[in-house]
Amino acid sequence: MSRIAVVEGDGIGHEVIPVTVQALSTLRPDLEFFPVEVGYHHWEETGCPCGERDITILKTADAILFGAVTTPPMKDYQSVILRIRKELDLYANLRPVWGEGFDILIVRENTEGLYSGIEEITADRATTLRVVTRSGTQRIARVAIQKAKERRHLTIGHKANVLKSDVFFRSICREEAERAGVAWKERYIDALALDLLLHPAEYDVVITTNIFGDILSDIAAFLVGGLGFVPSANIGDRYALFEPVHGSAPDIAGRDVANPIATLRSGVMLLEYLGDPASAHRIEGAIQEVLSRGIKTRDMGGTAGTRQFGTAVQKVLQTHSGN
Ligand code: NAI
Ligand code: MG
Repeated sequence: MSRIAVVEGDGIGHEVIPVTVQALSTLRPDLEFFPVEVGYHHWEETGCPCGERDITILKTADAILFGAVTTPPMKDYQSVILRIRKELDLYANLRPVWGEGFDILIVRENTEGLYSGIEEITADRATTLRVVTRSGTQRIARVAIQKAKERRHLTIGHKANVLKSDVFFRSICREEAERAGVAWKERYIDALALDLLLHPAEYDVVITTNIFGDILSDIAAFLVGGLGFVPSANIGDRYALFEPVHGSAPDIAGRDVANPIATLRSGVMLLEYLGDPASAHRIEGAIQEVLSRGIKTRDMGGTAGTRQFGTAVQKVLQTHSGN
């Protein structure tokens, strides 16, 4: 039996996560779900967005299903999701973006780079240290290369023409790819951001540093209809967390209009991680079936609410499982 920590977090996390838990528990009644409360709302109530104890509890789970957290741009507030990624050493952020004629996997380094957290702000100057280590780059490169071996090829996205830290990142990725005999190409990240939209079929696995991967995956969401569709896995050697690429979307939160597909697909990735590709496949199939019936949320031009979409998915899963 696997134990799944469920973090709804803030905003639309409270809407998209229940839909996903419902789908997962329909297919896998053996999974044990337990809630963990962290995030901005938790900070407002308790003065702490995510405590030591929460981290310890998260570490007891076999996998974590995570909605989204609000991170206010305040100088003393630490991002909960960045903290969890660091504490659980979830160094590989996998963000698949696929559709008609293209299948891209963004592999984002998830623990260092510009999100190293080594920062200083004074009255006259603010600095953020961009840290790229050999071991940090090697381990993310190995994940990307393994994926490229199973798939087609690798693109390294960087800005080595300007950043010395990317000269370093690029050369380690190249070394690792050549050692593994994996075909690779490279693009400056700014040109890559446009080319990915113009020629998505030319990309397969794309490896890049932390902030570039963050931005690139939101850009790539354009290819599939927006942020409501893109899931992600945050994987380390011991722990794994699955979450949509989008945030807490305060502009639409509490209105039952959020698209739950990105989170359902994060549930798909969670099931694959647990070694259950059959159930994973069924959830994706149910999403497709519901869409084919014209049940669509507002971002897709439809009128279905989050709950209505979830119920439709649920019904498909129940029908096909004979429950
Ligand atoms: P966001 O991803 O929450 O929203 C961007 C835009 O996309 C909004 O207009 C929103 O309505 C729309 N959108 C997002 N998800 C959607 C969905 N499932 N269905 C329909 N529309 C959707 O990004 P934003 O507004 O920049 O950030 C809001 C908050 O979320 C911030 O506090 C930010 O720090 C946090 N955030 C948290 C993340 C996480 O927990 N991993 C990731 C990104 C942002
Ligand atoms: Mg982001």
